[in-house]
Amino acid sequence: MSQIPAQMTTPPIVEHPRITVVGTGYLGATHAVCMALLGYDVVGLDVDQAKIDQLAAGVLPIFEPDLEEKMQEALASGRLRFSTDVALAAAHGDVHFICVGTPQSKGSDAADLSYVDAAVTSLARELSRKCLIVGKSTVPIGTARRLTALVRSTAPAGDLVELAWNPEFLREGYAIKDTLEPDRLVFGAESDWARAQLAACYASIIAAGTPVVSTDLSTAELVKVAANSFLATKISYINAMAEVCEATGADVSHLALALSYDSRIGGRFLKPGLGFGGGCLPKDIRAFAHRAETLGVGQAVSFLRHVDAINQRRRQRTVDLVCELVGGQLSGARIAALGAAFKPNSDDVRDAPALDVARMLHEAGAVVTVYDPAAMANARRRYPDLSYAQSLDEAVMGAQVVVLLTEWDEFRKADPLRLGELVQTRFIVDGRHALDANRYQAAGWDYRALGRPVRAGSVTVIEFETAERTAQLGAR
Ligand code: UDX
Repeated sequence: MSQIPAQMTTPPIVEHPRITVVGTGYLGATHAVCMALLGYDVVGLDVDQAKIDQLAAGVLPIFEPDLEEKMQEALASGRLRFSTDVALAAAHGDVHFICVGTPQSKGSDAADLSYVDAAVTSLARELSRKCLIVGKSTVPIGTARRLTALVRSTAPAGDLVELAWNPEFLREGYAIKDTLEPDRLVFGAESDWARAQLAACYASIIAAGTPVVSTDLSTAELVKVAANSFLATKISYINAMAEVCEATGADVSHLALALSYDSRIGGRFLKPGLGFGGGCLPKDIRAFAHRAETLGVGQAVSFLRHVDAINQRRRQRTVDLVCELVGGQLSGARIAALGAAFKPNSDDVRDAPALDVARMLHEAGAVVTVYDPAAMANARRRYPDLSYAQSLDEAVMGAQVVVLLTEWDEFRKADPLRLGELVQTRFIVDGRHALDANRYQAAGWDYRALGRPVRAGSVTVIEFETAERTAQLGAR
């Protein structure tokens, strides 16, 4: 950690920089809104005219608690504008944040950098004065160095344009909080000027005591993939223990609880179940393993291939559990699939374990009805062949097995007695270890969860603390 030096030799920075945010997806829209909330004058730039029109009209195309209201506030203040005009953005910005996506490439584990390259190239062509480009997208190590050369050779302002890397760690569902109150800021930069200019963008967040780790470009790029790899590994670790529990009759949820009391281990990201999905963790660990292989250090992170494989196995094991409950024959079995999003409080179905399990059950011949409080439109677009219900009650009506795939509060809080009256048979698979096994069993349900014995129940230690602690395991 270092202080941001304001050295005499450093060219002057813009104390209250005008900001552009290139790419208005999840990361970019959140960053643009938060920067405007912090008092900066922000232009959000995207190549998608329809999306820009929507955002400019105050409509957020993603589901993120509070973000739409905050965006409307920022638009009304006049400090936030959206545009597709690169020349306008280039003229506006003292600091340009690159927030475009880096999805997994088709047919390879590598990250697809075409959006980053296109965004940086088109912006650089218009840059005719000193300014800073800041990468926030998750990229393979070495990208920032390559882009620095690209910018210098493309921008009319040449060497006056500098490039820094400032990875973003926001979680969907907590995007505003994670942006405005981050655990840390990471600045990868090659000059004191770039560091000081970045610090000016986050002045109030730094003043609030947020640690700043100031480092080189490669380390800044690596921090992000290392953090996501660690989180994925922690989840797959407990899910690997679940596999051992399944073979031994031990109970992984009691195991996770006992481990969580060790302050060196902690309970966050130790929630067993169906595993991780979404637009970040799965593709980031694959891209990292791929990049490490091309750098000749593939062996160092080869464990990430196992982390991925453990995670994928959870999906088939969930299908197997449903199959066991219907007597080994999925064909024609009526299954209620509760959840489609990759996690609660999100409508994101990218690499969603929930939707994948629904698809696998459907492909095995089951009659699957999916319900999700927020992700129905995205799920339907992805898998139009599945059946969708308008409500929880409609989804479970006449079901032979209910399978909980995303732990929305609506499902956690549902009354097992009432649900029991709607289903054909009281069989439930708790794919997220989110339900109270005792309550379901008391209401006559056969309750099953991955890594838990057939007659799973609560731990017999101090009951109050157990319930509290178990609820705390996981992402929050
Ligand atoms: C993640 C990182 O947390 C964030 O720092 C980064 O910027 C982007 O990627 P996000 O994709 O929003 O954020 O989801 P996260 O809350 O991390 O959850 C990822 C997946 O892991 C979800 O599918 C969730 O259900 C699963 N998970 C999480 C578990 O299976 N068990 C846990 O204990 C925690």
